[in-house]
Amino acid sequence: MNSNIHIFGTPEETARAVAELILMKAKEKNKQSLPFNIALSGGSTPKLLFSILSKEYADSIPWHFVRLFWVDERCVAPTHAESNFGMTYENLLKNVPIQDANIFRMLGEADPEKEAKRYQTQLETQLPARNALPLFDLVLLGMGDDGHTASIFPDNMGLLHSDSTVTVSVHPVSGQKRITLTGNVINQAEHVIFLITGSSKSTVLKQIIQRKNKFSDFPASYIQSHSGPAEFYLDQAAAAEL
Ligand code: 6PG
Repeated sequence: MNSNIHIFGTPEETARAVAELILMKAKEKNKQSLPFNIALSGGSTPKLLFSILSKEYADSIPWHFVRLFWVDERCVAPTHAESNFGMTYENLLKNVPIQDANIFRMLGEADPEKEAKRYQTQLETQLPARNALPLFDLVLLGMGDDGHTASIFPDNMGLLHSDSTVTVSVHPVSGQKRITLTGNVINQAEHVIFLITGSSKSTVLKQIIQRKNKFSDFPASYIQSHSGPAEFYLDQAAAAEL
């Protein structure tokens, strides 16, 4: 199995492995007295990771050096049930000593086009740059069972190579507007991690990892990090067809 593929028995073991990686990377930056700039995805998969970070890593991760950004956000209020920020606050932010000044929320309640522009400017002012793109230390991604990642969907693959680092996208089924990072800024990151669990992802994941069948139709197929392939953290159910 490729060295960038990490398979664990259960969703909890998988999430804990990602938590350990975040701890290690945050400590590395802390030793250099540098901030750890991480972009988080939403959806349901990260909830277990956030719960483990809250219960087991509240005292070990140097949270005062962590600066949180988002990969994407639904265009709803932060108190809405579908808000990625709201989910992150309930499962992580209210439980760890991260400073409000280090939380860079996408404003789901704002005008989408204006917010995309505002957030793009915020990335330019708040992050170091490499190749004229904002540079994250770590981008945590999920994957939908249609092979989307961030809010880059199969019907809008152009967002993978957009000149904008942040843009507005539309969920192809619900029509819900989203604010999302685009492919170039994700692929620029030092480390890109997919956290994927559950059997509903296994068939698409096989195609993406093995570059077979319809892999070229899936946005997640085009995601990597600055230095090489993205890292996949999978439970056995998601990896069942590999
Ligand atoms: C979002 C996410 C999205 C998510 C996938 C997987 O806003 O929904 O950023 O890209 O990672 O849709 O979602 P689940 O974790 O719920 O399967």
